Amino acid sequence: MVVFLGNEFNLSANENYKLAVETAVNAAEKSDFKIFLIGGVVRDLILENKIKDIDIAVEGNAVDFSVILERDYNCKIINIQEKLKTAKVQFSNGSIIDFASTREEKYINSGVLPQGYNFGCSLENDVKRRDFTINTLALKLTGDNKFSLIDYCGGYQDILNKKIRILHDKSFIDDPSRIIRALKFKVRFNFELEQNTENLMKEYLNNINDKMPLERIKNELHQYFNIKKENLYDLIISTKAYKLISDKPILNFKEERLFSLKEFDLFNENEIWFIYITALIVNSDYAIKRLNITSSERKVITEVRELLNKDAKVKDNFQIYKMFNKLNNLSIASYYVISGNPAVIKFLKALKDIEVLITGDDLKEIGFIPSPYFNKLFESILKEKLNGKLNSKEEEINFVKKFLKKD
Ligand code: CTP
Repeated sequence: MVVFLGNEFNLSANENYKLAVETAVNAAEKSDFKIFLIGGVVRDLILENKIKDIDIAVEGNAVDFSVILERDYNCKIINIQEKLKTAKVQFSNGSIIDFASTREEKYINSGVLPQGYNFGCSLENDVKRRDFTINTLALKLTGDNKFSLIDYCGGYQDILNKKIRILHDKSFIDDPSRIIRALKFKVRFNFELEQNTENLMKEYLNNINDKMPLERIKNELHQYFNIKKENLYDLIISTKAYKLISDKPILNFKEERLFSLKEFDLFNENEIWFIYITALIVNSDYAIKRLNITSSERKVITEVRELLNKDAKVKDNFQIYKMFNKLNNLSIASYYVISGNPAVIKFLKALKDIEVLITGDDLKEIGFIPSPYFNKLFESILKEKLNGKLNSKEEEINFVKKFLKKD
């Protein structure tokens, strides 16, 4: 189906993108390449959402096309991926566009990356390798009927009906990360899964192929947990999508606890996703072993594990301080969201910033001889301070002097 949208397109008021696309169109027409806006950008144009990035499909070789852009149109190739024949190009006004050669994908072993490609295929065959109908739309940029919408899979109607629909019954088997993508689009756009898509998702989750690499799943979860909406974790649990990465997710994760931590400034917005991931995998050796986690991510997981193994009963201030003082903020936050232990709030509100003011030099000046005993003194001062006493350096000095007399 071809829907003519008119001879203008509004890239959500982004003039820079518009100029870059016009340059690309000009270049393509002069060099006989057929190019199309493709995938998420077309979906977002129809939904009138802000455009995050622009993908252009080149019917032919996108790398060859990018070389022309760089040579004749004042553009800069930022990155080329020979394997997928894609090119990232920066235009003279700074905007960046991803160009991809049309391609078909061959899945020989399901669940892992495609094992073969046919590049330069027709646009129709290119869109048929994609995940959901809403992502298969193309906007023709060259030749006749410019700016018409090309819709081979019924994506336009699905966008209007707010439906997420896979293109063929083996889609999730070919690429299980699409399960998380489906949930991402569901939450982000407030769409529903079409019935057959939902059934096939359930069927897949009941018969997981556990040989699939988890990198794509982790990337998709990263994007999913970055959506600023509520009940993200609950949906991963209730749909059983957690089974893609973990056999033992935490079940009493409370999102409202996460939101309540905002006032303490423990983490950046862009770290929140890992708090969710921690709750999914912290109890699952299977997940930790298979998921490619960085050393700082591993540190958080380990610290949260240790906290969860400790006795959670509210302790005295000194014990609470010792429990959290040396830990990563993200570990403390994850532990609180998972456990709800009120000791965390006590630590953050009243204890975290308490520190001993006197130094070893002060102790020497008072008359103590340097020894491991200094640490005991510091600890005694700290205990007092955590209980609301010794509110100045002077009071600390007077406090330790008592020990000097006893010596
Ligand atoms: N795609 C796919 N299967 C995947 C990932 C991507 O078929 N597992 C296809 C989709 O057609 C998608 C396109 O590749 O539109 C580009 O992928 P990506 O940039 O991740 O998706 P967008 O649709 O642009 O989504 P977002 O808005 O989240 O960037």
